[in-house]
Amino acid sequence: KKGSYDHFMQKEIHEQPHSLTTTMRGRLKDSGVLLGGLKEHIKTIRRSRRVVFIGCGTSYNAALAARPFMEELTGIPVTMEVASDLLDRQGPIYREDTAVFVSQSGETADTLLALDYALENGALCVGITNTVGSTLSRRTHCGVHINAGCEIGVASTKAYTSQIVAMAMLALAVGSDQISTQARREAIISGLSSLPSNASEVLKLDADMKELASSLIDSESLLVFGRGYNYATALEGALKVKEVALMHSEGMLAGEMKHGPLALVDENLPIIVIATRDACFSKQQSVIQQLLSRKGRLIVMCSEGDASAVCPSGSCRVIEVPDVADCLQPVINIIPLQLLAYHLTVLRGFDVDQPRNLAKSLIQH
Ligand code: UD1
Ligand code: M6R
Repeated sequence: KKGSYDHFMQKEIHEQPHSLTTTMRGRLKDSGVLLGGLKEHIKTIRRSRRVVFIGCGTSYNAALAARPFMEELTGIPVTMEVASDLLDRQGPIYREDTAVFVSQSGETADTLLALDYALENGALCVGITNTVGSTLSRRTHCGVHINAGCEIGVASTKAYTSQIVAMAMLALAVGSDQISTQARREAIISGLSSLPSNASEVLKLDADMKELASSLIDSESLLVFGRGYNYATALEGALKVKEVALMHSEGMLAGEMKHGPLALVDENLPIIVIATRDACFSKQQSVIQQLLSRKGRLIVMCSEGDASAVCPSGSCRVIEVPDVADCLQPVINIIPLQLLAYHLTVLRGFDVDQPRNLAKSLIQH
């Protein structure tokens, strides 16, 4: 079943050009997107006072990546909830809310308990899941199957990118009545249709990421700084590294750097800075300068051709990725970090598909 691959995680990373294609199949039209499962609910979602994204782990991170474009295309405020934290706080959920539950398996206990809670409180409940027939799919009012194909590796990879794409289509569908954003929507639709080929392109970094992994093999920790569209990329890249490579790693909001994390910077601690082209680019350039002036050991992810723009001194290691529509950049930017986590795990001699202490789904017993 693994074919020519050594591990499921590796196979699933390399499958992404295909899984992204199947997520969009039959749903992308020149004029807009067609999500069969949401047709009858789009108007209700449009009228909602708030969208609440709810999930755990990687699925939460996918929702975080979707938040900026959901707000931009719909104008509806979006709040984020880690399922267990919503339950711990018994946080307010109202009838006027649309609660979007994101779960690869559709069986995660905390996510399902949060769903019961939101149903009791009268919210419209929408599912984003990879598993047809799952409890999440059955108990939500409506939703989108991401159709990424079965994911076996405990570390979620192809489901993450397909979840973001499914939520991009959701945002396009909900925002499709807004004339002022029509050109923007068309640009995003065209960006979506190029994503599979962009994913194939970025997968060519495999050997580079293996080499980078070999230079990080003995590090105790790895920081990942992102912001804007790529704050989620920082959290998700760090989650991959900690869960499979068993290395301490933290994703951080670059805008918070001076409020604490800067104290950690020295010439030994490796730091990945995500600085691909978008409205936050110049802010990331200045973050890089500040880290370099403290002798930070930097690995910068930038758009193709931007190596000297992000690191004029040439003292950083640079990962150049294809430039895509800014809000879809997280789909591409996570792929080198998935490859890095994979190779770090193999080189450090750990079990890739069955990380210590973890299970694929944390189901209710
Ligand atoms: C559906 C078919 C697909 C077919 C296509 C043809 C299924 C599962 N899907 O896809 O095989 O090719 O029509 O037009 O038969 N749902 C939830 N919660 C969730 C996810 C989905 O309630 O978390 C519901 C949806 O609202 C919808 C149904 O499940 O009623 C199927 O969803 P989805 O597979 O995304 O719909 P289509 O893309 O239309
Ligand atoms: O099946 P779900 O998407 O609900 O799972 C949620 C998390 O348990 C899951 O994403 C977990 O964080 C993964 N091991 C991450 O790779």
